[in-house]
Amino acid sequence: MEYRVESDRDDGTVWKSEGGKSFLQLGDSLASMQNLPAGSVDCIWTDPPYLLSNDGITCVAGRMVKVNKGEWDRSRGIDLDHEFNRTWLGECFRILKPNGSIWVSGTLHVYLSVGMAMQQIGFRILNDIVWEKPAPPPNLGCRCFTHSTEILLWATKAKKGGKDRHKFNYELMKEENGDKQMKNVWRFSTPTDEEKRLGKHPTQKPVALIARCLRATTDPGDLVLDPFAGSGSTGVAALKLGRHFVGYEQNKTYALLAASRLSEIAGEDLPESISTTSALVSRKRQQSLFAKA
Ligand SMILES: C[S@@+](CC[C@H](N)C(=O)[O-])C[C@H]1O[C@@H](n2cnc3c(N)ncnc32)[C@H](O)[C@@H]1O
Repeated sequence: MEYRVESDRDDGTVWKSEGGKSFLQLGDSLASMQNLPAGSVDCIWTDPPYLLSNDGITCVAGRMVKVNKGEWDRSRGIDLDHEFNRTWLGECFRILKPNGSIWVSGTLHVYLSVGMAMQQIGFRILNDIVWEKPAPPPNLGCRCFTHSTEILLWATKAKKGGKDRHKFNYELMKEENGDKQMKNVWRFSTPTDEEKRLGKHPTQKPVALIARCLRATTDPGDLVLDPFAGSGSTGVAALKLGRHFVGYEQNKTYALLAASRLSEIAGEDLPESISTTSALVSRKRQQSLFAKA
């Protein structure tokens, strides 16, 4: 497969949009985030290492396989893991705008630490979104229930009743939900083969899931950051919705896969396949949202 790599310069940029407002860099996000100014990012959507690669087993496509995703996903013990979460979330706090949102996905291996770290740092958690998977892999050990959900913690820096109010496109979410208030339980399938067409990442997230979060808490032209970009799903969702995107990924194979996906999207001028609940959002509405970009 051929990847169009923008350059391999010292700053690690592997993809950049025309005009340079969106880019993806290869490198350690804990260091790279320090280059972003305080209060410069509208929204952070990220899927950090869940730290669940403990040599256990799981089921993939009907086959028993090791759960291990890679060394980046290995736990170093709860204290060091929590310290890691506090460190990157602390940087996120610094660079997020006062009315911005942060979304962090996780399973029980990580969201308890992430939620605690968020509160220790000063974030206000607004919702825990339950992402329900319609076809989860079976539980091979048969010693507990089938894991079929992940949690998305949505938080802001804005204080309750303070002068800054977090951005929330409430009416749009209601409209997408057949004119009823949207609940915090969302059903989305895992990424389709189409989303993995350019290559695979072991923990790839569905673009549709991320896109709903971005439609809820950003507007066209806003800047979205993902410090653990993986295959670039957050960037794909952001660009398709007319948002700008900054991403960091430390693994070269994944960074190049993300670069390839982002290159493919850039230049498209309509959010064609973003559709989640888009059947409920008129095409006209999508076009008018996009026109504001
Ligand atoms: C859970 S995966 C993200 C998957 C992504 N949401 C997707 O849809 O493809 C986490 C990613 O973070 C990367 N990573 C881990 N530690 C990192 C660090 N310190 N800096 C940058 N990337 C890191 C890993 O290589 C891995 O690809």
